[in-house]
Amino acid sequence: MKIIVTGGAGFIGGNFVHHIVNKYPDYDIIVLDKLTYAGNLETLDPVMDKIKFVKADIADREAVYKLFEETKPDIVVNFAAESHVDRSIEDPEIFLKTNILGTQVLMDACRKYGIKRYHQVSTDEVYGDLPLDRPDLFFTEETPIHTSSPYSASKASADLLVQAYYRTYGLPVTISRCSNNYGPYHFPEKLIPLMIANALADKPLPVYGEGLNVRDWLYVEDHCRAIDMIIHSGRVGEVYNIGGHNEKTNIYIVKKILELLGKPESLITYVTDRKGHDLRYAIDPTKIHNELGWLPQTMFDEGIVKTVQWYLDNKPWWENIISGEYQDYYEKMYGDR
Ligand code: NAD
Ligand code: DAU
Repeated sequence: MKIIVTGGAGFIGGNFVHHIVNKYPDYDIIVLDKLTYAGNLETLDPVMDKIKFVKADIADREAVYKLFEETKPDIVVNFAAESHVDRSIEDPEIFLKTNILGTQVLMDACRKYGIKRYHQVSTDEVYGDLPLDRPDLFFTEETPIHTSSPYSASKASADLLVQAYYRTYGLPVTISRCSNNYGPYHFPEKLIPLMIANALADKPLPVYGEGLNVRDWLYVEDHCRAIDMIIHSGRVGEVYNIGGHNEKTNIYIVKKILELLGKPESLITYVTDRKGHDLRYAIDPTKIHNELGWLPQTMFDEGIVKTVQWYLDNKPWWENIISGEYQDYYEKMYGDR
């Protein structure tokens, strides 16, 4: 099998490349990544001799067609995206270019050169949010699309386009919508790695609003296994939700990180809330469980210990990131919040 993984130098894409290299040593793996601020070749260091890496933009039609012409992939898994909600609130345009138009270019290439499967890595954010006082409600694949941020609107638009390419052109597609991931190689602008990095530096931990928003956390390796199952055994044209009933409030997560690092709760600082902040995400994973036998293997209490330990053991990876232009980003987002 020949597989193109776009966004493979990012958090989840990078973990997925590690997963595929280890599980399918005979596969040809081609990583296509623009190496934006979120892409990091060091994430691929351990597997670099087993993959081919191409630096390109998924929205660059010429570059994408050239790669497809040269490699003739069987499977394309699209992780490439602008992925941070806060950045989309500041500047939406690149989200539309990469997440929507980039997806279109990739699918056009799939149509032109022929593939066995195009998989779109989407998000539970396309369903909007659930109220905090209705713990009985969950997102199923039938939940209507109802987006909140420019990020989620761009991901939902891409999903609709993927479904249109299935219906109109018969492109063999699948879509997965996963909840919040955490684990190794997570870029430190997102909640968990940001809180670990700040706590280790004894800096304030900026909690939005009252910290009561709920996310449904999934250890990244469980997400990678789910996508592996979908691309090999999932039904064409279908959407699969991925999540493991690990709902936690943000303040619970932050306090847990402080406890694991032996740091005081006095570091917690409540800051101005995110605009349009989604209240609660919660996935119903019944479909992927019943059809493909997927279940999460790492529960939150175990996964967060492993994650904190990874950040302690791999300081050069993230210290390198936060010493550069990240400082300007941090000042802009949190300076007078
Ligand atoms: P990330 O921001 O860590 O990585 C994104 C990667 O895509 C980076 O390597 C970046 O360089 C690359 N990229 C960005 N624009 C590109 C372009 N135009 N062309 C080629 N490469 C480009 O993101 P992530 O957290 O790993 O998320 C990966 C995918 O999973 C995204 O599609 C995201 O919407 C989805 N998702 C993320 C989560 C989560 O919790 N992080 C949950 C559900 C779904
Ligand atoms: O649900 C899946 C989504 O999860 C993915 O589609 C996105 O790509 C991914 O970034 C993530 O989105 P969130 O907005 O949920 O993740 P983030 O880590 O940015 O924030 C998680 C929660 O923590 C959210 O309620 C906002 C809050 N938060 C975040 C940051 C960065 C804070 O309170 N303080 C912070 O400094």
